[in-house]
Amino acid sequence: MSQSCKKAYITTPIYYVNDVPHIGHAYTTIIADTLARYSRLIGHETMFLTGTDEHGQKIEEAAKSRGRTPQAYSDEISGKFKTLWDEFDISYDKFIRTTDEDHKLSVQKAFEVMYEKGDIYKDQYEGFYCVSCETFFTKIQLYDDECCPDCGKPTSIVKEESYFFNLSKYEDQLLAWYSDNEKCVLPKGKKNEVINFVKQGLNNLSITRTSFDWGVKLPESINDPKHVMYVWLDALMNYITALGYGRDEEHMAYWKDGTSVQLLGKDILRFHAIYWPAFLMSLELPLPTHIGAHGWWTRNGEKMSKSKGNVVNPKEVADAYGLENFRYFLLREVPFGQDGDFSQKALIDRINSDLGNDLGNLLNRIIGMSGKYNDLHIDSKDLLKYHQKEVDAANTIIETLETYIFDLQLNRFLEDLWKILTLANQSITTYEPWTKMKEGKKDEAMALVALVANLLAKVSIMLHAVMPKTTQTIAHALGFEITQTTYIDIITNKEALKPFTITKVPPLFPRIEDEILKSPEPTPTQKEKKEEKKTEGIITIDQFFETKIKIATILEAQEVPKSDRLLKLKVDVGEEEPRQVIAGIKEFYAPGSLVGTQACLVANLKPAKIMGMLSQGMLLAAKDKEGLSLIRPESPKRSGTAVG
Ligand code: ME8
Ligand code: MG
Repeated sequence: MSQSCKKAYITTPIYYVNDVPHIGHAYTTIIADTLARYSRLIGHETMFLTGTDEHGQKIEEAAKSRGRTPQAYSDEISGKFKTLWDEFDISYDKFIRTTDEDHKLSVQKAFEVMYEKGDIYKDQYEGFYCVSCETFFTKIQLYDDECCPDCGKPTSIVKEESYFFNLSKYEDQLLAWYSDNEKCVLPKGKKNEVINFVKQGLNNLSITRTSFDWGVKLPESINDPKHVMYVWLDALMNYITALGYGRDEEHMAYWKDGTSVQLLGKDILRFHAIYWPAFLMSLELPLPTHIGAHGWWTRNGEKMSKSKGNVVNPKEVADAYGLENFRYFLLREVPFGQDGDFSQKALIDRINSDLGNDLGNLLNRIIGMSGKYNDLHIDSKDLLKYHQKEVDAANTIIETLETYIFDLQLNRFLEDLWKILTLANQSITTYEPWTKMKEGKKDEAMALVALVANLLAKVSIMLHAVMPKTTQTIAHALGFEITQTTYIDIITNKEALKPFTITKVPPLFPRIEDEILKSPEPTPTQKEKKEEKKTEGIITIDQFFETKIKIATILEAQEVPKSDRLLKLKVDVGEEEPRQVIAGIKEFYAPGSLVGTQACLVANLKPAKIMGMLSQGMLLAAKDKEGLSLIRPESPKRSGTAVG
């Protein structure tokens, strides 16, 4: 974002409604909120967008497993996100839901434009799909031959008719964009990862599905009702559909003439830094100014996620420690782009030390000194006479601060801003106003108090976007209000505070001695887990799909010497080599009768040794008084076909 620009567009990802909001979601949203507030403060016409991503197989399955319709389920969880952002005073201008009718119309319009341009064609898709990440993979991309390389969960085989987006066509244009726009992807290290990925060559992207319904239909002009759009196409478009793309384009100026900052976590950088700009190229629209990918919040080194049950509930933390203290901590603690481990101890340290000792105490000292020396009255008339040097030093720091904000280095921004507080605290020590008072140099003592007040005023304005209410309280104590006008006066024009009488305020950051929340913090996940236990025997669809069942073709079957029960089988499950399976079915099947037949195999069991022989899977069978039958497909299926 450049300072001279008038329109600013700031976005968060739209969050999936399969999960309640946790600290990771709060982090992205608070960064975006900070940028939006700063941008408004300095006079940019700002639009801040957030929302929820509600279509796709994952949501359909999450709803089904809870016995809900996807719409009712999405309404509920989307509402939870919106409520949290409202409780957190997030200053979004629009909250988009991908189930909004006008969003769908705009997405259909975009599809039509890309189709008419010849960038979309129909073909057959065959490959692997991770429902959790809503991502397609080729065989070689998989980890352990069948698992998602991103989240590690088993993938499923997808074979269906699909429309494709000609992504490879845009390879060169994408590479040129990365190299011509130094800051298009931030931080820069992340940009190199993207470039390397694109250089390996891009596959065309499947952008429609036929095997489920919960998605945006294709435009009527294409007349192919069995297809719904791939959720990522639908979702990425939200950034322009929210501005009226293809409908009422009045707000598209934010995209076309403004600077855009798109914030997200590194988990979804590929979608934003490759697919999204390619779609925009196809639509002949400008590309985002900055795509900013931050790192992950972890607990004890593990990514916070619902499936691990280690999520931190942001509302509980904010309620316990103060919302604005929490905001400060999130932005200050971890360099943008790096992972950070959440702990109450680190949060308490930041509150007691940075906020309490450095910031809050400075206000107390000003109140104390001005009360003692001059009836709480502060005047900047002698400020430059005695403290030109300190004022200049603070102004120099401020000049470099804005670059940090716009480069998303919010931790550096706060670190440098704190140098002004250090300068203020040191000046008190250096100039000893109490000695000056004893020597009868009240003018000098009060010039020092004015210096400290002016430095604190500058800090409170620059910190306003991070801690909106606290800084307004500080400003109020110092006799002014933080607005665009006072920003221009005090920061841009470097004016001193007008004479004022300080208003006493209670301590802003009372010291915290002990952890307030029980550790580990109770989280919705753990509560949900308990409830799940109550409904004994019930599993979610995700839990079911953790078991990978595949069609196995029996290639060989032999008796195992010295065993009444066991047969040694060689089965083909569509992998490079057949597997050996030791099955307890000898009493029920003659080995010869099995060869060439098929059965269902649990394919992701940990290999076991049975009578010293390796067994790489388990055949499914049903056994009753009459005997045992293998579970087989009704008609032959390709070896390796997923069952589920
Ligand atoms: O990916 N640490 O939605 P999502 C930091 N719907 N940030 C985290 C985090 C963590 N542990 N966990 C989540 C989707 N986030 C898609 C996006 S956009 C067109 C579609 C944050 O609900 C972070 O911003 O899985 C991450 O990118 C986002 O939540 C993923 O949210
Ligand atoms: Mg996710």
